[in-house]
Amino acid sequence: MRAFVGVDLPGDAKDVLAAFIDRLRAAAPEAKWVPRDNLHLTLAFLGEVGEERGAEIGDALRVAASGLPGPIPTQVHGAGAFPSARRARVVWAGLLDGEGRLAALAHRMRATLEPIGFPPESRSWKPHLTLARFRTPGDASTLVTASPEEVSFIVSDVTLFRSRLARPAPTYEPMGRFPIGG
Ligand code: 2AM
Repeated sequence: MRAFVGVDLPGDAKDVLAAFIDRLRAAAPEAKWVPRDNLHLTLAFLGEVGEERGAEIGDALRVAASGLPGPIPTQVHGAGAFPSARRARVVWAGLLDGEGRLAALAHRMRATLEPIGFPPESRSWKPHLTLARFRTPGDASTLVTASPEEVSFIVSDVTLFRSRLARPAPTYEPMGRFPIGG
């Protein structure tokens, strides 16, 4: 199975991001815009893993998440593009992480996965909510001058997701949820 560790978003945050996508979509109809239900924050990408490893991975994530200080407040803030606005592959909405607690969460999850066979990712982790992906890099410099509404929410658990590739969009199935701070 294809799997990743992420944060499921509350409905009101998904609503705000879906409304933002609706504002932007016409400016880049060739991009693959993420359906509302698929919006999420990725903490660690696992790739292909044997289904029989689900319980072991879940146990490791449960222990790691429960060892953190507690739920993390954040806020949707601004928009941007990777690797650059002029040659965008991904358009994203930002998340405020003033105290670095989201980054610490991502690092903790990744550090937990490393000894059970998931090598560290080469790209550094930046909190972002992917809104659209371009098959060929596109100019998103005008797109990312717009901003979504600044909705606040609390990250209270991490989720192990199974991703099933499908058209027009993959489906993400939560396989386990692990509370932050026990
Ligand atoms: P993204 O949000 O930055 O695009 C599920 O596919 C999630 O895993 C996506 O949200 C994506 O993060 C991330 N992902 C997909 N393929 C990846 C890869 N090859 N390397 C790292 N992360 C990946």
